[in-house]
Amino acid sequence: MRNGYSSAVGAEEFLPVDRHQLASLRRASAGCRGCGLFEKATQTVFGAGDPDARVMLVGEQPGDREDRDGAPFVGPAGRILDDALVTAGLDKGSLYVTNAVKHFKWEASGQRRLHKKPSHTEVVACRPWLLAEIEAVGPDVVVCMGATAARSLLGPEVRVTRQRGQILPGPGGTPAMMTVHPSAILRADPGSRQAELERFAEDLRRVARYLAG
Ligand code: URA
Ligand code: SF4
Repeated sequence: MRNGYSSAVGAEEFLPVDRHQLASLRRASAGCRGCGLFEKATQTVFGAGDPDARVMLVGEQPGDREDRDGAPFVGPAGRILDDALVTAGLDKGSLYVTNAVKHFKWEASGQRRLHKKPSHTEVVACRPWLLAEIEAVGPDVVVCMGATAARSLLGPEVRVTRQRGQILPGPGGTPAMMTVHPSAILRADPGSRQAELERFAEDLRRVARYLAG
């Protein structure tokens, strides 16, 4: 542990021997100390959904609600996602949903806990969990929602603005698609929110068409 930071280590050493079993991964992730983010967060928020899903959705990191509930996308961003999935005709029950980083990073603002973007080091530290989830689930396509997920899985050069909606070769050859993060739709000004939501749903529809072959 250089500099006394556990972030120099990363999640790798916390992965279970039985890393192809989602249940073992989830259990082991609860004890991860691969970077400093576990200290201020309530719990590890591991992925959830169908262990045989053909589509894996990847966000950035849990938010305030997810940190308390222990499940991904159960707060405001999750409602946007749910809306878009319904519009796109994708059944949430048949998906697997997770994040690039498994602990909530925040700073206090009065009584509130404000989301802070994870650093590159934290994203890299947490990536072994994400890669192990992809291996264990074996989806046909991974959807990177936002730049953090996209950079974690497709490299630092990718730009959502340029490659949005394209199906690219992802980790281990698994096809991956990049789209916006649902929080970007929450932040859009009211005049463009509906159009942004429609465009997000169109990206998800493209995934549905891809699966249909
Ligand atoms: N934003 C994310 O990226 N993931 C969540 O689980 C919730 C909000
Ligand atoms: Fe481990 Fe990821 Fe949490 Fe860091 S954010 S402690 S690497 S699970």
